[in-house]
Amino acid sequence: MSEPEPPSVAALSLAATAAEPVSKATVQEINPWDVQAATDADGNVQEFDYAAISAQWATKLIDDALLARFERVTGHKPHRWLRRRLFFSHRDLELILDKYEKGEDFLLYTGRGPSSDAMHIGHTIPFEFTKWLQDVFDVPLVIMLTDDEKYLFKEKLKQPEVYEFARQNAKDIISIGFDPKKTFMYIDSEFFTSGFNRHFNLNNTEFEKLITNNQVRGAFGFHGSTNIGSNAFASKQCVAAFASSYPFIWGQDHKTYYRSKQLAAIPCLIPCAIDQDPYFRLVRENCSRMDLPSPKPALIHSKFLTALQGAGGKMSASNPNSAIFMSDTPKEIKKKINSHAFSGGQETLELHREKGGNPDIDVPYQYLAYFEDDDDKLLRLADEYRKGELLTGEMKKECIDMMTQYVKKFQEARAKVTDEVLEEFLRPRQLEWRGNPRVEKKKVEENTESETAPAGADGQPLTKNQQKKLAKLAEQEKKKAEKAAAAAAKN
Ligand code: TRP
Repeated sequence: MSEPEPPSVAALSLAATAAEPVSKATVQEINPWDVQAATDADGNVQEFDYAAISAQWATKLIDDALLARFERVTGHKPHRWLRRRLFFSHRDLELILDKYEKGEDFLLYTGRGPSSDAMHIGHTIPFEFTKWLQDVFDVPLVIMLTDDEKYLFKEKLKQPEVYEFARQNAKDIISIGFDPKKTFMYIDSEFFTSGFNRHFNLNNTEFEKLITNNQVRGAFGFHGSTNIGSNAFASKQCVAAFASSYPFIWGQDHKTYYRSKQLAAIPCLIPCAIDQDPYFRLVRENCSRMDLPSPKPALIHSKFLTALQGAGGKMSASNPNSAIFMSDTPKEIKKKINSHAFSGGQETLELHREKGGNPDIDVPYQYLAYFEDDDDKLLRLADEYRKGELLTGEMKKECIDMMTQYVKKFQEARAKVTDEVLEEFLRPRQLEWRGNPRVEKKKVEENTESETAPAGADGQPLTKNQQKKLAKLAEQEKKKAEKAAAAAAKN
């Protein structure tokens, strides 16, 4: 990668939030159900400290060396969200590159908890990034819509309501441009009752047995009065990362009892916001203990998108002025950015010309940094802003144009997503992909398990444990037969 990163955006990731040991100060809280930035002694919301969370959870920060390798291996310039560190951290991304380099397949997996039908740019950006990864690697993708999770965790939601959110969200996600040939999307409450989920279920029950209450309590802060569904749900989001949960994607039989060892061994890459990491630590810590072990899924973590109110704020479905929604009209977008976007400019025109603005805290600039691909243009805007040459209103105008274009393109695509299109994405089926075009492809074939493993009744090879159990059964049968023979001899 030759271009320098825009310093202003990169600097965000290094911003420290030193909480004072005084009254109103709080530390940042990041877990799958609660994301709160720290507050200072006066109760002012601070920026998230991403370096701290990465250090605390022992993830690796994405660095230039990794991105250079990414570019070498894939032949693609890293996405601006990698260059600008919106996706800032990872686990084992190198191993995925190793696999891809050798021409081996992996599974891309991401998801969304459908807690409302109002999707905003904070929701679409992770999917845009996932689509880009899929385009770059040309691999199969599963998208899990966890209506069960949201129902279990949100006191007020009813099942039919969350299910409807999931369907609407699925249409929004499809509008981002996913290819139905390579993408299987499922709504938990549907897939888990479809009959195609046998291997998912078997993986889930096995994984549930591996995880204790203490482990989920430790990972998620559950306690004695947490509903039991929440405890159990954790396992589902985990085993969704095992390729063996979806045999049909590889054209394998989903009705047979036996899971496939080859599929279990396929690696997985999960793009997600950093708050989802606790789930995947659980699967990374325990996947090798499965009868048919899976490799630790690799992760690529994003920061939280900046709310219109500024860093540390939250885009919220219940606050229309906190974010640009995908259903906003051009007029609404203009109004939101003009009257609600936090500005890093000066109070008056004279002051701004004299002192210059601060793009690092300027939300219109931050949003431009999400969407403007041209690094030079972005640097120029920041530079002119700092010098006071570019005015707040001008920065806002750039941002409004960019956002209006993005939302318009989305809405045009969304209008074409009919129920039939949705059903096609939701249908469990074999997917088609090519993987690394530079390496000759090794196909996963059915029943090519270790040659010594005996086959089960359906021709599927058995695992070591299954073989042991069979041997034991055979031993018992033999003893029974001997007894019967002895009894018969007596008579
Ligand atoms: N728990 C996630 C949420 O509430 C949804 C989800 C399921 C997910 N599987 C995932 C998110 C994998 C990222 C990656 O939004």
